[in-house]
Amino acid sequence: MANSRENWTSRSGFIIAAVGSAVGLGNIWRFPYVAYENGGGAFLIPYLLALITAGLPLLFLDYAVGHKSNNSPPKAYRALFKGGETLGWWQVCVCIIIGLYYASVLTWAGSYVYFSIGQMWGSDPEGFFFNTYLQTTKSATFDFQFVSHLFWPIVGIWTLTLIILYGGVKKGVELSNKIFMPLLFVLFTILVIQSLRLPGAAEGLNAFFTPNWAAMMDYKVWLAAYGHTFFSLSVGFGIMVTYASYLKPKTDLTGSGLIVGFANASTEILAGIGIFAALGFMAHSAGTNVQDVVSSGIGLAFIAFPKIISSLGSGADLFGILFFTSLFVAGISSMVSILEVPIAAMQDKLKWGRKKAVTIVGGGSALVSVILFSSVNAIKLVDIVDHFINNIGIIGGALLSIISVAWFKRDALVALRDHVNRISTIQLGKGWSFTLTVITSMILLVTLSMTVYNLIMKGYDTYDFSMQFIFGWGSVIFCAVIAILLSKMKDR
Ligand code: ALA
Repeated sequence: MANSRENWTSRSGFIIAAVGSAVGLGNIWRFPYVAYENGGGAFLIPYLLALITAGLPLLFLDYAVGHKSNNSPPKAYRALFKGGETLGWWQVCVCIIIGLYYASVLTWAGSYVYFSIGQMWGSDPEGFFFNTYLQTTKSATFDFQFVSHLFWPIVGIWTLTLIILYGGVKKGVELSNKIFMPLLFVLFTILVIQSLRLPGAAEGLNAFFTPNWAAMMDYKVWLAAYGHTFFSLSVGFGIMVTYASYLKPKTDLTGSGLIVGFANASTEILAGIGIFAALGFMAHSAGTNVQDVVSSGIGLAFIAFPKIISSLGSGADLFGILFFTSLFVAGISSMVSILEVPIAAMQDKLKWGRKKAVTIVGGGSALVSVILFSSVNAIKLVDIVDHFINNIGIIGGALLSIISVAWFKRDALVALRDHVNRISTIQLGKGWSFTLTVITSMILLVTLSMTVYNLIMKGYDTYDFSMQFIFGWGSVIFCAVIAILLSKMKDR
């Protein structure tokens, strides 16, 4: 394991960074709207089952792969099986695509901190979000209209991300997380307590916690739960492989993994509590029920929350600033982790220095992201790309990594398990191998097949086919091509 690779300063530095990566927009922006769209109380049980049957087992696998090889995904998987490098590059490319739109949602969060002052969305947060702010057009196809007030903030987000990444593993990624994570914890705790004090909060919590058995019969709820778990835990797309590769040789991997998994799930459930309490408050004020109180999915955080904030009277500015700053702080540490994957991979493959890798990979991504997401298409692209890359890119990458090792390289799986057990407190038993080999892989296989079938037969939502083809399928095809090409390239 001895090479010049950077390391975290300590195990706690790694845990903070890994929690920083896992806890992100996925927890505060994505989870509540996915839960809301999937019936509220119908979602929690599939989510928890997805976490136990797939999220955590894969988290341990990712840690084992990254730590044992001490390399980023392409080389780490290459060391395990033939063709592994292609899978590694697929995961790297998925990160690049996620980074493009993640920056866009972060931009909205950052801008809404400012809009919270005096509640600039006025009496119509929905109209403000779609029309005034994002300037979304009705047209079903791509529009080449530039929105200047989206341009500068997204440039700012990329600049901040790249500055942190230029700092390297210790002085950039780890240090920024040591600042952002405690800040997030404080902000978020205040926020959730505030939400719970709203009149009607209990109705919202009932909607969130009461299992809706009938809705759980809908397979789409299960697809959404599995699709979300990996995104949220940062597993299956190279982040945890890369982060574990920076660990010192003797580190308790399972203990760390459980802390990260627990911290991530708790934040997610807390975000659910905060948002559903707030939805309960809205339903209470409007005299309707929680299921009907908002129509928007993807914009939930940017529509429902402003409505609630506006009705808070004197505490409104503070509450708004707290919420959107939490969203921003959670997101920026995850953004850094997403970009760290392609940067580390290029450093490992081509022996580029840190600065060169950040400039080329980060700068190139920034350019594409700024062009695409400072246009009137921003939210449509976020929605389409997020759907395809999560449900095909991440699930596909996760499935391939599990099948390749658990089905076809049993000795590698045993070696990985031994590796983890040698250095960890909690031992991985046969139950772990069995879960990956049978339960996780079967569930993912079914999930992926149904998603692909549905997307081919029915498409996604009501978007025009050209948009879905270029940006949805296009992202998937792009990753496949990049993965094949880069794995053919010789190492330096
Ligand atoms: N795990 C990160 C999130 O939840 C990507 O946002």
